[in-house]
Amino acid sequence: MEAVKIKEGFYWVGAIDWNVRNFHGYSTFKGTTYNSYLLIDEKITLFDTVKHGFEEEMLSRIKSIVNPEKIDYLIVNHIEPDHAGGFLKIVEIIKPEKIFITQRGKDGLKNYLHKNDFPYEEVSTGKEIKIGKRTIRFIETPMIHWPDSMISYIPEEKILISQDAFGAHYATSNRFDNEVDYCTLIQESAKYYANIVLPYSPRVQNLLKTVRDLELEIKLICPDHGIVWKKHVNEIIQLYENWSNYIAEKRVVIIYDTMWKSTEKMAYAIMEGVIKENLEARLFKLSVSDITDVMTEVMLAKGLVLGSPTLNNGLMPTVASFVHYMKGLRPRKKIGAVFGSYGWSGESIKLLNDILNEIKAEVVHEGIKVKFAPNKEALKQCEELGKIVAQKIKSSS
Ligand code: FEO
Repeated sequence: MEAVKIKEGFYWVGAIDWNVRNFHGYSTFKGTTYNSYLLIDEKITLFDTVKHGFEEEMLSRIKSIVNPEKIDYLIVNHIEPDHAGGFLKIVEIIKPEKIFITQRGKDGLKNYLHKNDFPYEEVSTGKEIKIGKRTIRFIETPMIHWPDSMISYIPEEKILISQDAFGAHYATSNRFDNEVDYCTLIQESAKYYANIVLPYSPRVQNLLKTVRDLELEIKLICPDHGIVWKKHVNEIIQLYENWSNYIAEKRVVIIYDTMWKSTEKMAYAIMEGVIKENLEARLFKLSVSDITDVMTEVMLAKGLVLGSPTLNNGLMPTVASFVHYMKGLRPRKKIGAVFGSYGWSGESIKLLNDILNEIKAEVVHEGIKVKFAPNKEALKQCEELGKIVAQKIKSSS
């Protein structure tokens, strides 16, 4: 397998994982890539490695350009095993003169590898190295995605090597954004942001500010997953601005599960109310939905309506699992409400309202609970709830 030329002297030498479908719980229906980049200069420099098991693919791509033993420098932008799982094997082969890494990266790898005798050189924000005609500038980006994370910028080429940031789990034999379907690319990028980056949105805001303050001109963004951004650099930066500011579309997602269809009837009535207010509604029954995709819908929509019957004084397990997952990803600035049926005690409404409060949503209704099955009047109330949520969204900024 061969390297792909990104620019003169700069190559993609990563690996394509066509068959991964579950990435620590994230559904990767389109597979993914583990990107690694090779810069040919007086000091030949490799940016990141790949997941363990993909080292041979990476090495064969490197060999199409240069003998791997000729590589002088290795830069470790991020130590999560999808990028550093191949570190040991690659380092053993290339025997780099220096490995540039953050202090947290070094500490983290020590805990993974249980050895530390590598030619590390610690770097931090502002540090630059000259590798010949080109310079590499490092910017730490802690918690995008792990504490160790950093990005590398090559000013002479205006290339940003952004590790997880601006990535997408999207396996493709094409390497550039203008070679793939744009809608699919944006959808996969949104899914990646919603399920990986969203909790760190304040950090993303800081990073974008740093890029502006340093007046970094960016012609290419080279992330560690998915394609290289070339044609749509400004668009993906703008989307990261929006997503990290929790700017969402004026529509409502209704997320629920049901035991005997009572809660489901309520969900449909709420949807009717939203539609009557001329707003788009999207409805997801959790027992037949993928939670990674549903989370993407949560991030992209302003309105969030949650429903669950009460089961054993709690939520249905599918709903409990989803709201636990969602809460950890910290969506913000939602307009929300809750609903659900019950037989005896009816705790689900309180539990779901607690969740909305925990994610700091604006709760616009106390919630509707219905004993056993909704009658006409109850369904009318559900429709009204849908209207109230929709009206609030329409009048929001
Ligand atoms: Fe793609 Fe945080 O690793």
